[in-house]
Amino acid sequence: MSQERWTAVDAYVQNLFMPDDPALERTLEESSAAGLPNIAVSPAQGKLLTLLAQSHGAKRILEIGTLGGYSTICLARALPGDGELVTLEYSPHHAEVAHANIVRAGLGDIVTIRTGPAQDILPELVSEDVEPFDLIFIDADKGNYPEYLGWSLMLSRPGTLIIADNVVRDGRIVDGDSSDVNIQGARRFNELLAADPRLDATIVQTVGSKGHDGFALAVVNMPTT
Ligand code: SAH
Ligand code: DHB
Ligand code: MG
Repeated sequence: MSQERWTAVDAYVQNLFMPDDPALERTLEESSAAGLPNIAVSPAQGKLLTLLAQSHGAKRILEIGTLGGYSTICLARALPGDGELVTLEYSPHHAEVAHANIVRAGLGDIVTIRTGPAQDILPELVSEDVEPFDLIFIDADKGNYPEYLGWSLMLSRPGTLIIADNVVRDGRIVDGDSSDVNIQGARRFNELLAADPRLDATIVQTVGSKGHDGFALAVVNMPTT
């Protein structure tokens, strides 16, 4: 199977299930025009995030790594009118582009972007004693995924769904001696998911327009705080 085929199938899926999505299309155009890297989740992956949040009945979502707000919009769309999504972004430029995209998508009232390093903002959220989140999407710097998991658990309740992007990386995840900090971070993250008795987890490999990668999915099964 080739990248060309995977991309063609992703186009087929997009034509079938999300043929016309001006808000998401504009988000990609504005992100690209502003010089952001082209690394958002694919349309099919974004729709999966929407469906997971919707089927989970999520009312409060935390996202780590906003970029231009593509995945943010996919997740926030699943929320009821009184729902809330908090998204953390290191880059003020990315946050500014995302803010415009999120407002344009009509989601400005339920999405809050907090700008700064997630490793600083996550402890702030804990000390602010915010309500636990129903769904947490981890998609920032892969080297810090293990740390983000620890804070995510402190912001969870039994039933919280934790999703992490990019845990396969062209299959390089199986290279235990990789010198890539992103691979090592994702490997450690996956091992922590597997070892933690408070979590039930798996990894779903994905192929498509973004190549071969994967989502980790974990459900919190007992109190974490
Ligand atoms: N979730 C987005 C893609 C995120 S790309 C989507 O699918 O649409 C990863 C983002 O994480 C980038 O915008 C990057 O600036 C941000 N990031 C990197 N390191 C970070 C950190 N330490 N804290 C918060 N955000 C970080
Ligand atoms: C990269 C980051 C991502 O979140 C992603 O989905 C793909 C690539 C990256 O930093 O290269
Ligand atoms: Mg990603």
